[in-house]
Amino acid sequence: MALVNQAQLKCPALTARHYSVTRSDPRKGNYTDMTTPLYDSWNATLYAGNSAHHRAQDAAYLSSFTLAPTDHILDLGSGTGEFTNKLAVLVPQGLVLGVDASRSQIEYARRSKANNVEFSLGHLEALDALLEHRKFDAAISRATLHWVNEDDHPLLLRTVAAHLRPGGFMRAEFGGYGQMASVITILDDVATSLGGQTIRCFFPEAEQYRALLQQAGFDVMRGFVRLVNQTRSIPTFEALVGLLRSQPYVGYEPNLPEQNRQAFRELAEKRARTELKRADGSYDLDFVRLDLLAFSV
Ligand SMILES: C[S@@+](CC[C@H](N)C(=O)[O-])C[C@H]1O[C@@H](n2cnc3c(N)ncnc32)[C@H](O)[C@@H]1O
Repeated sequence: MALVNQAQLKCPALTARHYSVTRSDPRKGNYTDMTTPLYDSWNATLYAGNSAHHRAQDAAYLSSFTLAPTDHILDLGSGTGEFTNKLAVLVPQGLVLGVDASRSQIEYARRSKANNVEFSLGHLEALDALLEHRKFDAAISRATLHWVNEDDHPLLLRTVAAHLRPGGFMRAEFGGYGQMASVITILDDVATSLGGQTIRCFFPEAEQYRALLQQAGFDVMRGFVRLVNQTRSIPTFEALVGLLRSQPYVGYEPNLPEQNRQAFRELAEKRARTELKRADGSYDLDFVRLDLLAFSV
């Protein structure tokens, strides 16, 4: 059980801002966790320029479920809103609400939003307060849920279930067990050698996530929970560096001593240049996605 205090605190040791979460642990009792970084480390312009590997999946993803034109859709972790706007095209008489914790992403997304799209700045860990009494026909999420702490998934999934209409569904994909293992091995290694931490992402196994969905009250028998292996096209070293700086570094840099952040980039990119180069000269990456469809009962 985690209660999120939305008051945002400045952490003097780090430039990243943090929020506090009150957690309950049978051994420790109630305690305050202030270690979860806020996501202002996301730079929307950088992300927009380096997310072609996600956008390449959009069409296939959108064709994997059906929406009615009047449906109300929740997009969990809406980022720059490019995918959210594509969802909006499918519900011309409905609406899409995109939620994201990054001010940079939300401001960028609001600049080019479709008429039937709203964007709200907020943490998925505190989704219930943000949604109030609103109900949705579907909750969709792309490339986001691995950024939510493992301990916060039960509450998040219960909240999503509670805000779906009967018969509504959740469709999500995010990093699963083994996601970008070659990259993360290098980055974990370099970060810990410079006083940082291993990446704070939750990359679950399919069975583990199926159990979480069932415990939150979802019907997964009519849907699926599976790991999907993908090789994503990263044609050049420059494209790899763009991806690293706009996405996985968000999971390391807030926890690194500020004076070591430049060294982190230099060492990580030096190793990536040689260790991640493929025989064909590309830097294509092996992704593992947790891919799910679950129904509200
Ligand atoms: C890789 S981006 C994906 C964005 C978008 N879904 C897309 O397909 O491009 C992940 C997004 O999740 C957001 N995010 C990460 N953790 C979050 C949290 N706990 N609450 C809300 N948003 C979060 C980040 O700010 C970021 O915009």
